[in-house]
Amino acid sequence: MRVLICEDGAAAAQRTADILCASVANRPDAVLGLATGGTMEPVYAVLRNRIAAGSLDLSGVTTFNLDEYVGLAVTHPQSYRATMQRLLFDAAGLPPARCHLPDGSAADPVAEARAYEAAIEAAGGIDLQLLGIGHNGHIGFNEPTSSLGSRTRVKTLTGETRRANARFFGPDEEAPQFAITMGIKTVLETRACVLLATGPRKAAVVAAAIEGPLAAACPASALQLHPQATFVLDPAAAAGLKLRDYYETVHPGGGEARL
Ligand code: GLP
Repeated sequence: MRVLICEDGAAAAQRTADILCASVANRPDAVLGLATGGTMEPVYAVLRNRIAAGSLDLSGVTTFNLDEYVGLAVTHPQSYRATMQRLLFDAAGLPPARCHLPDGSAADPVAEARAYEAAIEAAGGIDLQLLGIGHNGHIGFNEPTSSLGSRTRVKTLTGETRRANARFFGPDEEAPQFAITMGIKTVLETRACVLLATGPRKAAVVAAAIEGPLAAACPASALQLHPQATFVLDPAAAAGLKLRDYYETVHPGGGEARL
């Protein structure tokens, strides 16, 4: 596991964008796994700026988002499909057929989840997966006690997650109770993954994920099993790490390892 502690939140978003851009430079038709959440928004802003400046071309990639709410029309502004369209797909000029999200309005969400897992496999798997982390350690919508062997499926969201996501919905709307999410095993099978966490409210869960026991109670701890996992943090999110000095010695300023 690589733990990159950057100067501040903006630097952490840049660093995450740099890793994605390097993957696309290496393989212009890369299969990218994408994530939503407030933490990711600055990353997509960096990518949009690079696209506008002509230094990034995402037109050849295929994308698979981690998750989508069940029961929300794709046209709802807070559906993850609409969010991604706004944050990246429009700017990248990506045709809808190559931007995959589970269809949360499918008549049979269980079958939709199975088909999504099969579509990832048919695309040859994911080269690079972006991840955020929930306050309870969830990745995607894999809530605590999700099986470490799980694949894309329907999950019930915890009250804590619904309260955290309520901020994106209007006062007269309820945050959805169910979602289709890639499973932990799906994420572990990606060829590389990058988890971005910023701010003091993520410090405890980041420490649990990186230095705590491997446990379904903290789904992000499963990344300890991933052969190419990178955590990109700002100092506030890194504040609970016992081995912080070590990570900063190996990756000064969150840069590449000095050998
Ligand atoms: C949602 C998403 C996750 C994301 C999490 C954290 O629950 N499904 O993929 O990591 O929120 O969001 P934020 O970055 O807003 O804290």
